Amino acid sequence: MTQDAVRATAHAQFAKTYGEAPETLAFAPGRVNLLGEHTDYNGGLVLPVPLNMGTAIALSLAGEAGAIAIQSGHEDKRAERQITDAAARTWSDYVVGAIALFMEGKTVDSGFQISIATDLPVGSGLSSSAALIVATLRALCERTGRDMTPVEIAKLARRVENEFVGLPCGIMDQFAVSVGEPRHALFLDTTTLQYESVALPDTHKFVVAHCGTGHKLTDDGYSTRVRECQAACAALGVSTLSEVSIADMPKVEALESPLAERARHIVTENQRVRDTVAALSANDMDALAAAMNASHASQRDDYAVSIEEIDDLVENALRAGALGARLTGGGFGGSIVALVAEDHLDAWSKEINQNCPAARILTVC
Ligand code: GLA
Repeated sequence: MTQDAVRATAHAQFAKTYGEAPETLAFAPGRVNLLGEHTDYNGGLVLPVPLNMGTAIALSLAGEAGAIAIQSGHEDKRAERQITDAAARTWSDYVVGAIALFMEGKTVDSGFQISIATDLPVGSGLSSSAALIVATLRALCERTGRDMTPVEIAKLARRVENEFVGLPCGIMDQFAVSVGEPRHALFLDTTTLQYESVALPDTHKFVVAHCGTGHKLTDDGYSTRVRECQAACAALGVSTLSEVSIADMPKVEALESPLAERARHIVTENQRVRDTVAALSANDMDALAAAMNASHASQRDDYAVSIEEIDDLVENALRAGALGARLTGGGFGGSIVALVAEDHLDAWSKEINQNCPAARILTVC
């Protein structure tokens, strides 16, 4: 689907659900992360790219003060919530949290009617939740006339995840979705929030493929990794693992297991982000592929966030001629990103479709 088609779908769903056209429409893309996984809640470096897939929100300020009516095209679900609700561990939390934090401290004198349309598969590691939150915040800004910069929207969206939904995530997804430029990687330092745009190669494509098994980051794995990193920081006497350099590796290796493995992943992954940015700038596809492959091994062996279906898909991607391939996103299921020469893309896709029937090639950038 194109962005226009996703917007038109949200508009049509709204009109059908609430009997009139929405007052405003907003869109936010998903993202694929090229390198830098789990570094963002460790003050580290990341390199995501906004996708051509995303989520549209149709919104009107209507109904009883504080009431939130939400209709989602995904399985045609409905929810009736209140702005004062606590999180209920359900899909509508992202919208309720976005509205509640946006309106924090302001008088709410109307209700909210919302329809959601998306072509991003949920639980695929492509930031469907960040897209939903950022699209909701954009719609609210537009409808209320409040002026927020893309960086302010990213920060507020992260607070929705951390404070309302209860996921202790970093800021990569919200930043990529709100600030990133299409067809460019966003090289972001999550400590300083300094960023720059890095152009993607002309001769090669990054292909995003879902392994067939979804994830749920609100399950324990993600929070456990966050706690393990905090424990490694305490043991090393640093405030974030990104203060630790490759030269400090002996101290990291001396930690007990699994803290040593977790910290080693973060320290080496930060270096791989730098290597990847240098490789992209020099158009060095071999160096780029080497960093991606090393990142996958590190996620699988040291950070333990991969699953068998993902490892199989990565192996098949390489066997079919991808130069590099790795798990992308939070892990425990979801998607891979593979670097494939553009003139080999058709043959590669055919082979993956044949050999990996559970997998789905989702998009290319
Ligand atoms: C999820 C989180 C991000 C980041 C990635 C892993 O997408 O939302 O903040 O930690 O996992 O890199």
